[in-house]
Amino acid sequence: MTPRADRGGASRGTGPGGDRQGPRFRKPPLRVLPTTLWEYPSQHYNSESGREIQGDPSFEGATPSWVIWQLLQRYTRPNDLVVDPMAGSGTTLDVARDLGRRVLAYDLAPTRPDIFRADARELPLESGKADFVFVDPPYSTHINYSGDARCIGKLDAAAPPEQPGDPTGQAYYEAMEEVISEIHRVLKNRRYMALYVSDSWRKRRGEPGEGAGVFMPIGFELFSVLRDYFTPVDVVCVVRQNAKLERGNYRKAAVEGNFFLRGFNYLFIMKRVETARDPSEFTIEE
Ligand SMILES: C[S@@+](CC[C@H](N)C(=O)[O-])C[C@H]1O[C@@H](n2cnc3c(N)ncnc32)[C@H](O)[C@@H]1O
Repeated sequence: MTPRADRGGASRGTGPGGDRQGPRFRKPPLRVLPTTLWEYPSQHYNSESGREIQGDPSFEGATPSWVIWQLLQRYTRPNDLVVDPMAGSGTTLDVARDLGRRVLAYDLAPTRPDIFRADARELPLESGKADFVFVDPPYSTHINYSGDARCIGKLDAAAPPEQPGDPTGQAYYEAMEEVISEIHRVLKNRRYMALYVSDSWRKRRGEPGEGAGVFMPIGFELFSVLRDYFTPVDVVCVVRQNAKLERGNYRKAAVEGNFFLRGFNYLFIMKRVETARDPSEFTIEE
């Protein structure tokens, strides 16, 4: 599907088929990146096992595999259990296996046999089993992932309040809080999780004079939910290199219409930290 300017682009980075690949393009070797600004000129990397694609490049909304590679290099060890509760085309499965990690993947609409059908709000996994959780959720309604009514991609992050005083996009954020709470349940104490997400902007279809569009600050909103469950470790800005946006009139439309195309994704890295209280803190009543 062609990315629409009002969605900020359909792909999550370099995008399906969106690698900057001329005839002489060679993917640079992956190295652990030292700063909080991450960029790589391809959606996929060449693994030591010879695999050149992770996940499915034709899956709309696939995560750039090198982002997951960076995370697993830093926050996991061989044989750790990695969990992806919204696995899509299975990018996390392929990267985890490349790196010798065990992995469990779930999705409402599994695309391959090694993804289990489950709602990310109710995972069939015991508490405290995961060494690392990666999640790349729907960013509001910009991609139609499946016909399953429970798909969080059917919930509009810009939905107007139902009652005066209710927040905008309440159903989307409540559903995502349930996902985050479930991630907290399955993650071991003192281990890490990462959530990859973008804000969204949609052209307004209302009356002239109401403004060009509606901005959905999904990143900041979800970071605030994450903070209720986890300790922040860092925030990374991942440069999106959606080659499709180089074509057509997207750039012209953004300048003339005075709106922005999405140039980056947030990567929120969080840690589950639960400290058992030191018994010496308790005073014994005589
Ligand atoms: C952005 S995609 C994930 C992309 C994936 N990381 C990849 O690289 O292919 C989001 C996924 O969330 C799934 N999803 C949406 N609502 C869900 C829910 N309630 N439980 C589980 N999966 C859900 C969709 O089916 C979709 O596959």
